[in-house]
Amino acid sequence: MSTDATTETFDEWARSGRADRMETSHGDVAAQVIEGLLIRPGFQILDLGCGTGWATRLLAQAAPGVGAVGVDVSPEMVARAEELSSLRIRARYEAGSFEALDFPDGRFDIAFSMEALYYAADLPGAVSEIFRVLKPAGTAEILVDLVEGRPGTETWPEALGLELAVLSPEAWGALFEGAGFEDVGLGRIVDRRGAGDEAEFEAGDCFPDWESYVAFHADGSLHVHAKKPA
Ligand SMILES: C[S@@+](CC[C@H](N)C(=O)[O-])C[C@H]1O[C@@H](n2cnc3c(N)ncnc32)[C@H](O)[C@@H]1O
Repeated sequence: MSTDATTETFDEWARSGRADRMETSHGDVAAQVIEGLLIRPGFQILDLGCGTGWATRLLAQAAPGVGAVGVDVSPEMVARAEELSSLRIRARYEAGSFEALDFPDGRFDIAFSMEALYYAADLPGAVSEIFRVLKPAGTAEILVDLVEGRPGTETWPEALGLELAVLSPEAWGALFEGAGFEDVGLGRIVDRRGAGDEAEFEAGDCFPDWESYVAFHADGSLHVHAKKPA
């Protein structure tokens, strides 16, 4: 599956408004991780697969003088992120792919990503790029909802029509260790708002019924933390 198919899919999500709903669906899990990060004044942060840029903006406001850059392969996502941005927030957005990050070595203190990395056409190549653009002692903070064995996600590759990397938590850990990272930690983050109200649940391509969504919610997103050696 090419990056072109992914780009087309997410351009369409940006045009249709589906992309705007991701802040609500991913917001609490991302906030839990961001709240736990030691973001110092002036930190430089990369948001990989930024979509509409809501997390990039959250990261940019985490401490004074933080600079956050969102990168996304979908030009229409980047355009939407720019539309939603404000000059008062030190966040900017660039079209680009995980596999060829257009940044010098050692540019960032933190590489964050919410629910995006498993779309990479070359996942090991993407993780090597993350390693390259981090400063020594910089950290990768990666969240993914698609994890091998996670209830409710079995149908996602077919439903989305894309080739997705479906890895176990241990395989995610091994991938980061293989790229040279140390202190690799794996955690599960459960949305604090609960699964919500069955009466308001709308079946879609990823969750055909309420039961699959409840089981998915209870399992939590995978958080991979990894540090580039100092
Ligand atoms: C499910 S969306 C998540 C967006 C955002 N992080 C959020 O939580 O709302 C995945 C995003 O990753 C981007 N993406 C997928 N593959 C990519 C790649 N190889 N390089 C850069 N961005 C990519 C998509 O265009 C899409 O905007």
